[in-house]
Amino acid sequence: MRIFVVGSGVVGTATGKGLLEAGNQVTFVDVAPERVSLLQGLGLDARAELDLRAERDSFIFLTLPTPNVGSRYDLSAFVAGTRGVGQALRVSGGRHTVVVRSTVDPGTTDGLVGPLLEQESGLRQGDGFLLASNPEFLRAASAAEDFRWPWMTVIGSRNRRVQERLAELFAPFGGSLRIFDDPMTAEFVKCAHNLFNATKISFWNEMYTVADRLRLDLGAIADTVSRSAEASFNPAYGTRGGAPYGGVCLPKDTMAFLGFAAGVGVDMPILRSVIETNSRFVDRTDRTDQGDLGDRVDRGDLDGSEGTDGIDVDGVDYFREPLPGRSGAADRGLGSTGRRTGAAVLAAEAGERGVRWSTNEIRAADEIPRHATDPFGLEPTDGTQR
Ligand SMILES: NC(=O)c1ccc[n+]([C@@H]2O[C@H](COP(=O)([O-])OP(=O)(O)OC[C@H]3O[C@@H](n4cnc5c(N)ncnc54)[C@H](O)[C@@H]3O)[C@@H](O)[C@H]2O)c1
Repeated sequence: MRIFVVGSGVVGTATGKGLLEAGNQVTFVDVAPERVSLLQGLGLDARAELDLRAERDSFIFLTLPTPNVGSRYDLSAFVAGTRGVGQALRVSGGRHTVVVRSTVDPGTTDGLVGPLLEQESGLRQGDGFLLASNPEFLRAASAAEDFRWPWMTVIGSRNRRVQERLAELFAPFGGSLRIFDDPMTAEFVKCAHNLFNATKISFWNEMYTVADRLRLDLGAIADTVSRSAEASFNPAYGTRGGAPYGGVCLPKDTMAFLGFAAGVGVDMPILRSVIETNSRFVDRTDRTDQGDLGDRVDRGDLDGSEGTDGIDVDGVDYFREPLPGRSGAADRGLGSTGRRTGAAVLAAEAGERGVRWSTNEIRAADEIPRHATDPFGLEPTDGTQR
């Protein structure tokens, strides 16, 4: 079965060459004449247009560019290339599978590619052509090697046969294979993959800035933390979603370090956002506590912390509304018995930025029984992640 690669740049070339080496018949398509000449010069079958007239069925990989314009993708080249595929489908008697390998917003394969192809081809998705998402994870600097030895292949398609055929196509390359029943999940995986990598790099850049201010060697610190922090070495840690971090340490230590960094003159926008994001989920968990989980949570241990200061970091108030029926500061701080949920407020002025910080929702992790099913023994029972 022939493979067409539409958009033969970094990803298209690595994809096409890799599939060619695995014994497939591959045709490269690109609108840039110099790209076509270059590929032809390498002895590859490269063309300026997609011609499906003589093809019964094929895989058509869309490896078109999706640059950003501000905070959205510029899909002009992607749409033009997809339209071209639709027009080629119109005059083909075959039933082809269009595979989106470009990085796109979740929902693009179903919401944009499918309708565009239907419009241009006059065919119906599912009958006249099939659709899949198969995002690319390679890195530009090692594109060919990454394609040949992928550590992960992701396929998303509603069609079981398409899933199987794509799995067969990529089987010779090895690595993990994840198959999803809808393209959108596969597209989301690719976005989350890139965002996670970007966030981790920026986190360490932020830590670098503080370490540098203190004349510490970040290399040794990062090397150690990459082996000490569960989030670095345990794939499941922190990935549950829908629940804040909690426990004794994470809420107070994030707040305290934000103030410490401000004290040495370093702003930490990522850490601030981490705290803000978490506080939103704390609020959400509280609402659940007051409703569905009311019986499980001992309301008597919840402290409204009336009279305490809120948390105001650059205008964001992190302090939760006091819970009904509780008023005093009796439970404030760390008591020694029972489950303690306190609003331990550590107001402190931090450097010239005037950051005030505080912690709330502190529970003693060792007093909360673990789920028997938690394989890592890390999941708390109070709805938080630690
Ligand atoms: N470069 C990477 O490291 C990398 C890694 C993973 C995913 N991706 C994603 O893969 C996609 C492609 O990226 P890339 O780096 O290969 O881009 P690229 O710019 O290197 O290549 C895109 C190619 O598409 C061609 N093209 C543009 N319009 C066309 C059209 N209408 N018809 C046919 N060809 C057309 C261009 O001439 C160019 O050769 C993007 O969505 C990108 O985000 C890139």
